[in-house]
Amino acid sequence: MERTFVMVKPDGVQRGVIGSIINRFEQKGFKLNAIKLMSIDHALAEEHYRDLRMKPFFGELVDYLTSGSVCAMIWEGPNAVANARALIGKTNPVEASPGTIRGDYAMDVASNIVHGSDSPESARREIGLFFDQELPMNPIMGFMQGEP
Ligand code: TYD
Repeated sequence: MERTFVMVKPDGVQRGVIGSIINRFEQKGFKLNAIKLMSIDHALAEEHYRDLRMKPFFGELVDYLTSGSVCAMIWEGPNAVANARALIGKTNPVEASPGTIRGDYAMDVASNIVHGSDSPESARREIGLFFDQELPMNPIMGFMQGEP
């Protein structure tokens, strides 16, 4: 059992594809643990992407993330981090396979529609940044306890 942090970025919210993205996670078998529409200030955007602060695109990335509402979510399931990354696809939509979210909905690396944590440690850190209080594990995840 694992949790991951997923965020529909401002272009995804503006284009009205939150529902389509949620649908893909639900179809895959993830359970939604928490969700909220929110805006991000520069401090939160910089903290979220702190590992990229030396990159030349960092300023643009922070401006983009703060340009409109985002939809922050916690999804849970087995290998949630890796399974979410597989659904989301490669960072650059040019390289993301059709069938992945970025492969199907995005064209440009600078606005690649969705974020997913890259490791369980990142997931814990990012969930802590975006959500004050986590809900208990989803009680309807019976299959996690070995049921079919
Ligand atoms: P990164 O953490 O490398 O990728 P991912 O989102 O797949 O974990 O990069 C974070 C975001 O930074 C990425 O989603 C889009 C942006 N970015 C650029 O704008 N230009 C770039 O060249 C790269 C590598 C990332």
